[in-house]
Amino acid sequence: MTPTVLHLRPLQHRDAPALAGWGRDELFCRHVGWAATSSAALHDFWVRQVEDPPTGLIRLAVENADGGVVGYVDLHGSNPGEKELGFVIGPSRRWGAGLGRRAAEAGLTYGFKELGLDCIWAEAPAANTASVRILRSLQMQETGEGGPGVFLGEDSHYLHFRTKRADWTGSRER
Ligand SMILES: CC(C)(COP(=O)(O)OP(=O)(O)OC[C@H]1O[C@@H](n2cnc3c(N)ncnc32)[C@H](O)[C@@H]1OP(=O)(O)O)[C@@H](O)C(=O)NCCC(=O)NCCS
Repeated sequence: MTPTVLHLRPLQHRDAPALAGWGRDELFCRHVGWAATSSAALHDFWVRQVEDPPTGLIRLAVENADGGVVGYVDLHGSNPGEKELGFVIGPSRRWGAGLGRRAAEAGLTYGFKELGLDCIWAEAPAANTASVRILRSLQMQETGEGGPGVFLGEDSHYLHFRTKRADWTGSRER
């Protein structure tokens, strides 16, 4: 099966209803750590993300070939040469089809090619198997264990990953 083409672009007002809708997906909310919030409040949150994004956060919509938003990728941090990668696919019925891996890969490509970063790092609780498998599959260097973390209510600890532009071999999303 041909994989869906994914594209990263700035968040737009038209994404807010879809993103807010993910708040009705209990499984998704537990994994992402979203608190129970009304749809209206979540919609307002996403509108604010578009109009007044937090300092240091570059949050990009992951768009499929139909122009629909299927996730978002974060490149976060105040250091202009180095950012933390984050990635989310929603809602949960989309999980397990390879979108997460390709979104994360597109995030690395964007960070190195569009932002000209020297280094991208990421962390995930060891218990977040999907996230850890993605980060390992991207061949980021595993740089050790961080502090304690909780995933789905269970105690875990963070695993740290890092890749430098010089070691980055590129991806299919380019
Ligand atoms: C993590 C997340 C992005 C994965 O998205 P996805 O579209 O399911 O990812 P993929 O389909 O590319 O799967 C990636 C790997 O995880 C595995 N996987 C997916 N869901 C899994 C699950 N529930 N349990 C164990 N492994 C799982 C897949 O088999 C695949 O491994 P493989 O390539 O070795 O077969 C998605 O679950 C999500 O948005 N979670 C909430 C946010 C989050 O945890 N983000 C990561 C931290 S920044």
